[in-house]
Amino acid sequence: MKVNNAEIVISAVSKAQYPEDRLPEVVLLGRSNVGKSSFINTLIERRGLARTSSQPGKTQTMNFYKINDAFYFVDMPGYGYAKVSKREREKWGAMIEEYLQTRENMVLVLLLVDSRHEPTEDDRLMFDWLTYYGLDPVVIATKGDKISRNRQKKAVDNIFKVLGPRKKSDVILFSAADKTGKAEAWERIEERL
Ligand code: GTP
Ligand code: MG
Repeated sequence: MKVNNAEIVISAVSKAQYPEDRLPEVVLLGRSNVGKSSFINTLIERRGLARTSSQPGKTQTMNFYKINDAFYFVDMPGYGYAKVSKREREKWGAMIEEYLQTRENMVLVLLLVDSRHEPTEDDRLMFDWLTYYGLDPVVIATKGDKISRNRQKKAVDNIFKVLGPRKKSDVILFSAADKTGKAEAWERIEERL
């Protein structure tokens, strides 16, 4: 997709603030610092639209980015960041859950996991939870540029084995640095729009 227009519409913390125009929504989930905001910037080719940071926990609200007046990317706060309080964590959990369980115009869930590491306990819980609710996420294995070709292949095989999505093509190796997987990710998004 050629992106001509991308803008942040709202940083929401509750349902009352979600956009009301009923466009399809593609939601990004994953551990804090895994590369959710970078993924959005890479796909839309705008370096700084979605705020990124080397400091985990940067995105603390649900950020709705409207793309070409055609659909939204919804950038969710990351989970699994140890330094936030239990209360904060519960608040984020409730916020994400409210969205996932009620949002009718959500068309695709992208679950981002770090290609360099074994999926975490949180990654597995999130994947299983999504699957249980029939949301069948496409898994994006991020930061592929940081490992060798050989390890990339092993990482994809391992994520497929450990998380267990339906088909191999539900795991996409990705890099915001060298754009690996960008076309494939767009393909999966566009088939839902
Ligand atoms: P939170 O908002 O805290 O949940 O993080 P996030 O998942 O949005 O991560 P973000 O996109 O902010 O990226 C975190 C850090 O990883 C930043 O320093 C990015 O530059 C870096 N990063 C993200 N994707 C890649 C990638 O594909 N390759 C490399 N080398 N670095 C990446
Ligand atoms: Mg972010």
